[in-house]
Amino acid sequence: MLGARPNFVKAAPVVRALAEQGVRQGIVHTGQHYDALMSDVFFADLGLPEPIANLGVGSGSHARQTAALLTGLEDVVLAQRPALVVVYGDVNSTLAAILVCAKLHVPTAHVEAGLRSFDREMPEEVNRIVTDALSDILFATSPDALSHLAAEGVDPARVHLVGNPMIDSLFSALDRLDPAPVRDRLGLGERYGVATLHRPANVDDPASAKELVDAVRQVSERLPIVVPLHPRGRTRLAEAGLVDGGNLSIVDPLGYVDFLSLVRGAALVVTDSGGVQEETTMLGVPCLTVRPNTERPITVSHGTNRLVTPAQLLAAADRALADGAATPSGELPPLWDGKAGPRIARVIETWLRGGNLSPAA
Ligand code: UD1
Ligand code: UDP
Repeated sequence: MLGARPNFVKAAPVVRALAEQGVRQGIVHTGQHYDALMSDVFFADLGLPEPIANLGVGSGSHARQTAALLTGLEDVVLAQRPALVVVYGDVNSTLAAILVCAKLHVPTAHVEAGLRSFDREMPEEVNRIVTDALSDILFATSPDALSHLAAEGVDPARVHLVGNPMIDSLFSALDRLDPAPVRDRLGLGERYGVATLHRPANVDDPASAKELVDAVRQVSERLPIVVPLHPRGRTRLAEAGLVDGGNLSIVDPLGYVDFLSLVRGAALVVTDSGGVQEETTMLGVPCLTVRPNTERPITVSHGTNRLVTPAQLLAAADRALADGAATPSGELPPLWDGKAGPRIARVIETWLRGGNLSPAA
């Protein structure tokens, strides 16, 4: 069950590997993200099959959106009676799917289990905790997830450290990641930075948005910055002064291949995205994450990611531009090798055949 941009990226390698194992499956798209640039382009770029249903749930407050997700997904699960439902990440569609399945006694698997920011003001953290508490099979992307799940009382026999399917998608796209055409289309030279901002804590409150926009504008005095803007931030960030002009270009969200092409050629990325922290780690591009915490600390310990406040952003950008992408451990995260999808599919296929669930290597 999929609903939002990062779900599509995580699901593609799992769907492909399950198909290769001969598992019969169908994608249910909740419609949480619905703009062509937030949804269709990912199905095309990632080679995802057409969904068997699109619930067209759309946007709303947390309660309204989740309520629509629950009723829509309940109808689908009752009609399809699947042997297993796979959910991804930490968005509202994930939470709703897990709740529906738990109440209907349909077994579930959660891909990207155990990540914790320990910040319950993030809506995603609430979704993660509930999803992991209710999932039958849990697939973890990094070792820290295993200890979080153990601390919450999850039976370790249900948890499988499999690597990161978002990185599988990146590996699959690598040959298609060419910065030059996107750069040319956006009128950029060879040296530029990319910024993405969409977390509620950054963009919903006018004062926080203003502080962040001022900081990004300062960085744009060092090098041109292109901002492919998530629809969530559009109005607030524009009101806070994030407007096209000078060294800042504000553009629509980019498709998966275009976006990662741009990131691959960037001197610097500024973000509050979860997935982008992981992708920059793999691409070796310096990443400054404007958040007080991350549920992906492995991108700091093993990657190019640094957490910064808006007040620290300019100095951190200067350092990153001078030093490049040094990684503290000198090693990439374990099992981020492009083979998470097949590992997940093997566990699921064994489970579907009624086999045992001992943790996969
Ligand atoms: C959601 C996830 C977040 C994830 C992000 C990925 C939740 C609680 N949050 O946040 O974890 O990082 O997706 O991108 O599930 N909108 C459009 N077109 C679209 C989709 C959204 O214009 O196709 C606008 C609407 O104004 C909507 C707003 O974006 O109200 C927020 O969308 P929503 O899906 O509620 O949350 P995101 O901020 O996208
Ligand atoms: N992404 C994209 N185009 C953009 C911005 C992001 O294709 O304009 C991709 C990015 O490479 C990653 C995914 O979207 O694969 C991350 O989604 P997002 O940042 O919306 O969500 P999060 O990871 O924060 O939940």
